Amino acid sequence: MDYKQHICNQLNVEGVTKEELYALLCEPPTPDMGDYALPCFKLAKILRKSPVMIADGLKAAYPLDGVVSEVTSVNGYLNFKLNRLGMVEETVKKILNEGEKYGASNIGQGKCVCIDYSSVNIAKPFHIGHLSTTVLGSALYKIYNFLGYKTVGINHLGDYGTQFGKLICAYKHWGNKAEVEKGGIHAINELYVRFNNEATEEMQAEAREYFRLIESGDREANEIFEWFKSLTLAYVQTIYDKLSVTFDSYAGERFYTDKMQPVIDELEEKHLLQSSEGAKIVDLEPYGMAPCLILRSDGASLYATRDLAAATYRKNTYDFDKCLYVVAYQQNLHFKQVFKVLELMEKPWAKDLVHVAYGMVSLEDGAMSTRKGKVVWLEDVINKCVEKAYTVVNEKNPDLENKEDVAQKVGVGAVIFGALYNNKIKDIVFSYDKVLNFEGETSVYVQYTCARAGSVLQKADGIGEYTVTDLTDEEFELAKALSALPDTVLSAAEKYEPCYIARLCVDIAQKFNKFYFNCKILTAQTENVKNFRLALTQATKQTLTNALSLLGIGIPEKM
Ligand code: ARG
Repeated sequence: MDYKQHICNQLNVEGVTKEELYALLCEPPTPDMGDYALPCFKLAKILRKSPVMIADGLKAAYPLDGVVSEVTSVNGYLNFKLNRLGMVEETVKKILNEGEKYGASNIGQGKCVCIDYSSVNIAKPFHIGHLSTTVLGSALYKIYNFLGYKTVGINHLGDYGTQFGKLICAYKHWGNKAEVEKGGIHAINELYVRFNNEATEEMQAEAREYFRLIESGDREANEIFEWFKSLTLAYVQTIYDKLSVTFDSYAGERFYTDKMQPVIDELEEKHLLQSSEGAKIVDLEPYGMAPCLILRSDGASLYATRDLAAATYRKNTYDFDKCLYVVAYQQNLHFKQVFKVLELMEKPWAKDLVHVAYGMVSLEDGAMSTRKGKVVWLEDVINKCVEKAYTVVNEKNPDLENKEDVAQKVGVGAVIFGALYNNKIKDIVFSYDKVLNFEGETSVYVQYTCARAGSVLQKADGIGEYTVTDLTDEEFELAKALSALPDTVLSAAEKYEPCYIARLCVDIAQKFNKFYFNCKILTAQTENVKNFRLALTQATKQTLTNALSLLGIGIPEKM
């Protein structure tokens, strides 16, 4: 139950909406003041009354019920105390009843969300810069699914462009089949780098010819291209498997080759297309933007042209209610242009396109400097994190079984959680020590807490009947945090911020540990208290399991 919502529904303030009240309700600095508070000075201007008078008036009118047990007016604040016993009992019961469905909903039923994420470039390194789009997009995919939406995960492959002509040319000159088969993407990347460093004028011309051959459907050129593509995809799949990332479609840029012309025709018909130095553009000057380039002067299409075709195709194919593009903020202008052009084309669904922009990820030691030509492969970051996780886990518990498995879950979890813990637009400096700190705001801390809860439950033999007759502050605070999952999932979807869920995990873990250290569970004074505490422990484990799995993070049974 959303207690804040409940309180807002009971409050009637003239000229102020329930949403505004909801946004104003906050948590007082200490729990003894109340569980929620409404700072009435924020209403003083609208109501033209003093905060104290407002608080007094609202208090008198508030109908106490099973949810709120006490309302007080203190210095212009309206404080609410929840009916703690009822609330805690209801929350724990709900979590244990719903199990792995706790936090889910069906508000998305009948609606479809397309999510474009990871969107790798064929034959190019899958580097740390792709971490955020991959794990953010995947988390949003799981979150929307959990809310009942039909979700379509799309890997909009970068498989179109003159670089493929260059690659084929480099391969023809310097490559050989066995070496490329063996070295896979790394070998392909080396060929590409070598071409850029060493190609002669003649080779450049050859490369253009190879690109033309791919375009015109030449068999050999296409076979080599498809081979590079399959090697790249096989490679990235191993990383997707580690991160539990999945897709429903790999329709990349090339897929739209024959779907751009109708869009260009439509632009023409709607008088949106202009010639400019031989190129075709849509003028966006009235909207304060650079023009959107549709065709180059040599007739070649552009990234934006293919995105216009892709958006149209997605609407026609999936009839989405929303289409998300999880792409770095460097492409802000690109998406603003594309969305604007679709709006000018009078596509009513242009408003349903959302660029979910995120910040940069770099490594602590500054290794992600492309200027030096040093690329940090995502695979290496994951492997190094798993390796370090092994050391950390081994130090903590040398006798642990399945240490490799545990290290895998801990290491991969740390990479994902590290990328998701902050608001997505923030630039992140990735630090192995920070993301693997048992005491920090980390996934390993959450996983460890979960294992701790699991070990308590294992020592108990089952959970018997109980009634909640009394509560410690620790029990109450923990249950309150657990009750926040459903709303947190909703707002994570609404704001495209999986970090809300990551933060709730840490909050719950901290509150569980306070409870664990201050309240005896297995040795509680009475059977009733013991059973209730076990149920609360089980509810914690369930809530954390559900929350972490939305982020793509697994939990080791033991740590
Ligand atoms: N492959 C592109 C890149 O690496 C990202 C594609 C994003 N999706 C899109 N529909 N434009 O920059």
